Amino acid sequence: MLTLKSPAKVNLFLKILRRRPDGYHELASLFQAINLFDTLHFKMSQEDSLTCTDPSIPTDGANLVWKAVDLFRQKTQLTFPVNIHLEKNIPHQAGLGGGSSNAATTLWALNQLCGEPATIGQLQRWSGEIGSDVTFFLSEGTSYCTGRGEILQSLPSLPTTSLWIVKPLEGLPTNQVYQNLDVSALEARDPQVSLEGFLSGKAEYFNDLEVPAFRIMPKLLSLKMQLLREGFKSVTLCGSGSSLFCFGNKQPSPIQDCRSYAAQFVNRLHHQWF
Ligand code: C5P
Repeated sequence: MLTLKSPAKVNLFLKILRRRPDGYHELASLFQAINLFDTLHFKMSQEDSLTCTDPSIPTDGANLVWKAVDLFRQKTQLTFPVNIHLEKNIPHQAGLGGGSSNAATTLWALNQLCGEPATIGQLQRWSGEIGSDVTFFLSEGTSYCTGRGEILQSLPSLPTTSLWIVKPLEGLPTNQVYQNLDVSALEARDPQVSLEGFLSGKAEYFNDLEVPAFRIMPKLLSLKMQLLREGFKSVTLCGSGSSLFCFGNKQPSPIQDCRSYAAQFVNRLHHQWF
């Protein structure tokens, strides 16, 4: 039995550069893992099974965990049945990358359980086939990501920082947010300048997906304004939403139909999982 934590992420900044002919968007984003975790239990067994503590999560082939198992088997040509149990804590349709993180955690776990047939570089290269955010979760927790999100530039850890995640009960489907994006209307910014800002201690948080996300869910903009009025700093959309992250010492006051989570930046050591 192998038990591993599966972290969430925030995008400290997320710049959309252009729409690609394949329908995806070219982006440049500083991704950071946070210590809001799911937990996965893996056991080699007689037959495949996936169970989950959250009945609203599909446990069939639609779950990215199975996509990771299939990909690992296909690439390594190994055959093995595996039991997986997923303890879900990361809210879904939140822009926190929970499903992608579970897939990355599964690739790492299977590689361990099978005696490390693949290098971390191979796992990273394969993982882009599962989804755009999966590769990030095979980094050490702080990365500048480009392409669809799957091209990694690993960075040293940023100073440990506490933050709040504020999540409306309603979620946002990623593809719907991207479909509502008008790339020509975005503010021109050079993501390399944004990155240098973070690395030199002059952070500027932003997310180009806020415009379409706020259009689809107007109450998200009201929530951002409310948090800013309460004194929270840099209230920014996580990924494609619907959660926001912000900085402040006290817990956000209770907001109807919203949940808040305290979190911190988290990184893993070179040869260890989170
Ligand atoms: O890659 P993934 O399956 O996570 O992407 C989900 C959806 O988000 C895609 O189908 C696409 O509509 C959108 N997307 C995009 N550009 C990206 C990443 C995702 O348009 N860089």
